[in-house]
Amino acid sequence: MLTRNKLLLKKSNLNILTKLFLPYSNAAATDNRPHIPVLFEETINYLDAGPSKVFIDMTFGAGGHSRGILQKAPDATIYALDRDPIAHEHSKQLAAEYPAGQIIPLLGKFSDLPQLLKERNVKQGTFDGIVFDLGVSSMQFDESERGFSHSKNAFLDMRMGHEQITAAEFLAKIDEPDLAKILRVYGGEKAAKRIARTIVESRSTIGKTETTKQLADLVASSVSQTYRVNKLQRRSHVATLTFQAIRIFLNNELNEINYGMILAQRYLKKGGRLVIITFHSLEDTIVKRHINGNIIEGMANPVPLKYSGHDMVHDQDVMESLAEKTWKQLHKHVIVSSEKEVSENARSRSAKLRAVEKIN
Ligand SMILES: C[S@@+](CC[C@H](N)C(=O)[O-])C[C@H]1O[C@@H](n2cnc3c(N)ncnc32)[C@H](O)[C@@H]1O
Repeated sequence: MLTRNKLLLKKSNLNILTKLFLPYSNAAATDNRPHIPVLFEETINYLDAGPSKVFIDMTFGAGGHSRGILQKAPDATIYALDRDPIAHEHSKQLAAEYPAGQIIPLLGKFSDLPQLLKERNVKQGTFDGIVFDLGVSSMQFDESERGFSHSKNAFLDMRMGHEQITAAEFLAKIDEPDLAKILRVYGGEKAAKRIARTIVESRSTIGKTETTKQLADLVASSVSQTYRVNKLQRRSHVATLTFQAIRIFLNNELNEINYGMILAQRYLKKGGRLVIITFHSLEDTIVKRHINGNIIEGMANPVPLKYSGHDMVHDQDVMESLAEKTWKQLHKHVIVSSEKEVSENARSRSAKLRAVEKIN
């Protein structure tokens, strides 16, 4: 029998054949590509791709940024990581285009990286550049059967890889206070309590929530509206934040980013470059705190240093770790997309790029 995962992989093979062999450039004209990389030029420039350098693309996706590195440095070596089996197929395809073995496809999460590199005898302090382009790819978002989007009706899956439970299974079991907390913390959803109550109560009245449309309708019914307008006058479906929150929680995205930042520090050589693109403030806050050295016991501090209290006296370990900075930021202000890029690729609207050099 064809399992769901095999079906996804089969589809991805078709995608690869039809889409991957387009001539590569980042011009908007080629944009039936499965995913358009954001802040492309900036990423490649800050990575300082050059002859014989070794990189990790932590979020390979459809390989846009990796291909950019290869355009600038055709003999670069790239370890191409992604937790998504479909993205992994794309990286294997790129590897086949470079038969000398300079593309090394790795299937796994950021947290699997130490093991994956150990199996290949790769030591810490090896890499010249590491790039993270966080969030969901267009391939994940646009393939309705992945269940990431409320705009297309499909099974409520939302897994980036296949190791955890689906959103449908999660909604069948989670209790109301925990769900409300997840919606508030990971989605910033103000109506979190009302939405959580509606979803949990619907289990006994309507039955399980198993499709994206059912979830979107439940959210809309609990707040009695379908669209909201935000501070920037942008209209979005009321279920957008609920979908975001469940996705981030299920895929353990924030813990992965936190650990990913620690791994970047370990695996870059001194003078190596880290480029990281975030898409919402939860991600960007973790990245910023790591870059600023605001880390407590291996985790981004939940409180910014400047607000940590008038009576706060840091102990010697904290003071020393702050004094010994790991990163030098390579730009003054955070880098965002130009108006032109935003008009050509709506995904780039909320992208923020930070580029740093490892100095310690
Ligand atoms: C925005 S896409 C990257 C697109 C890519 N830069 C390109 O140009 O095609 C993000 C990718 O990161 C992957 N990803 C997200 N979190 C991950 C994690 N913790 N470990 C490994 N891959 C992850 C997702 O599966 C997705 O394919």
